[in-house]
Amino acid sequence: MQNETLPGSGLSIGIIMDGNGRWAKKRGLPRTMGHKKGAEVFMDIGRYCSDIGVESVFFYAFSTENWIRPADEVSGIMRLFGEYLIKAFDYKKDNIRLKFLGDRSRLPAEYQARMQELEEGSADRTGMTLNICMNYGGRDEIAHAARTLAAKVQAGELRPEEIDVERMSGAMYTAGQKDPDFILRPSGEKRLSNFMLWQAAYSELIELDKLWPDFTRADLDAAIAEFNRRSRRFGGV
Ligand code: IPE
Ligand code: IPE
Ligand code: MG
Repeated sequence: MQNETLPGSGLSIGIIMDGNGRWAKKRGLPRTMGHKKGAEVFMDIGRYCSDIGVESVFFYAFSTENWIRPADEVSGIMRLFGEYLIKAFDYKKDNIRLKFLGDRSRLPAEYQARMQELEEGSADRTGMTLNICMNYGGRDEIAHAARTLAAKVQAGELRPEEIDVERMSGAMYTAGQKDPDFILRPSGEKRLSNFMLWQAAYSELIELDKLWPDFTRADLDAAIAEFNRRSRRFGGV
């Protein structure tokens, strides 16, 4: 049972974890150190989201475009992700369901196996769903959904005219989850950078002039307060 009095109750939140590189640069550190600090903040905010009753949270960790970065940065991020796969994404004691969104085929086989294990091991949890968007791209996700439905048509399981918004939503990596109520982007940038393009149709956008490694629980509280002040109309009056 979700506690209706919690500040995050029933909310779905997307978070674009941006600004790690600038955080490191400001301190004269290699960019990888910014990713390391960013990963620690991710763990803390993920746990906090669960504590305040959030329904789903989507953390953007690595985009389908991030591969164009220098090889040492990409391998640093992948190594860090691998370490978290082994030790930190372990919510065995928590009532958290873990999901990885994105194209896994480009990740090492042992990572893919561990991701599946973590998802299957937490599938029966009834609390928050914590989504990690890894090699994720909104356009890639939509293309993936189109391929899935096209294959069904080809197999004679679906007629083209049956393809509607609901079926498309059901073919996304986020199937069954609530669209983000708001998408939070620290670091001062005001763009989606290919994050949840399909699901963001009516998400409130909240940006913040602070780099992700400096992000705190109080910043999340402030973002929720800002979201609660917004007037959502979904096309109505
Ligand atoms: C976000 O921080 C992390 C990833 C994209 C993997 P950045 O690395 O983009 O940090 P900035 O934007 O360069 O400061
Ligand atoms: C978006 O940040 C991707 C992640 C936070 C994982 P980027 O830093 O890649 O976005 P751009 O390049 O500034 O648009
Ligand atoms: Mg960036």
